[in-house]
Amino acid sequence: MGKIVLTGITTTGTPHLGNYVGAIRPAIRSTQDASAKHFFFLADYHALIKSQDPERVQQSTREIAATWLALGLDPDQVTFYRQSDIPEIPELTWLLTCVTAKGLMNRAHAYKDAVQKNLDEQADPDAAVTMGLFSYPILMAADILMFNATHVPVGKDQVQHLEMARDIAQRFNHLYGKQFNIPEVVVEESGAILKGLDGRKMSKSYDNTIPLFLDEKPLRKHINKIKTNLLEPGQAKDPDDSTLFDIWCAFATSEERSWMRQQFAEGIAWGEAKKVLFEKVNLELTPARERYQDILNRPGYLQEVLQAGAEKARGVSQLFMQQLRDAVGIRPL
Ligand code: TRP
Repeated sequence: MGKIVLTGITTTGTPHLGNYVGAIRPAIRSTQDASAKHFFFLADYHALIKSQDPERVQQSTREIAATWLALGLDPDQVTFYRQSDIPEIPELTWLLTCVTAKGLMNRAHAYKDAVQKNLDEQADPDAAVTMGLFSYPILMAADILMFNATHVPVGKDQVQHLEMARDIAQRFNHLYGKQFNIPEVVVEESGAILKGLDGRKMSKSYDNTIPLFLDEKPLRKHINKIKTNLLEPGQAKDPDDSTLFDIWCAFATSEERSWMRQQFAEGIAWGEAKKVLFEKVNLELTPARERYQDILNRPGYLQEVLQAGAEKARGVSQLFMQQLRDAVGIRPL
């Protein structure tokens, strides 16, 4: 059986360089493997768990969809859709909910962290914990199992959710006969985790990101904010302890990496290094930035592309859902 690659992006934020280097760029590259089927979707139901700001969810959905298309995702070559356009996903979520042990969900990191935070603050353990947060892994399992994915590329923080999806699939198969593939997790290598302005992993939660499609001026400003040290021009600098070098490597060829290593050894000034980094990043992103602005100005086009994607996806999900309903005993009388 062929490879089925699937991944989702929660629609709560604006894509940043870390998302680009760690997830979007490798995902789009992987679509060149024509022997695999690819499903990429906007996880807007997951967004509701994290954000109750409707404008933000809508705007983020537009931005993320436009980002993927601007960066060259070919919607004819993959299935690109919004989770909320596939009614079979919440339907499957219920079937899975009915075979998922509550104890399994009790062990989810995100839920446990929320409870621990409440205990630390001497609040009720479940204060502000919604059922959406508690059941998050089941909705994610439904996303994956609905399309019988075999490979799921995600960040390290999502590995436990994949283990849970596998558990749930096995339980369902055990009860109702083999319905689902057991999906494998594909974790981005550590090399693909980009550092942020302060040297920690680039992440919205650390407020240290460089948004992906900044105009030139603010892009330059952000790059100038990358943390360096007090070494003067002419003093040798350590590339392996430099956020600036880390980001350079994410955009450079191997020759350019060696060249920059040499520059560090020769004591390149931080200001100069930031200037060449800006030029490098800007050069790679400029064509996509123009396409991005153009697509954002055409929400009707975005809507059309995603509707076509949903239709394609439902060609799979509607049929499979019939089979699953039958398997559990929801059948014509
Ligand atoms: N939970 C994932 C994240 O926050 C997003 C997501 C939702 C996802 N459903 C998925 C990823 C299914 C892979 C497969 O990053």
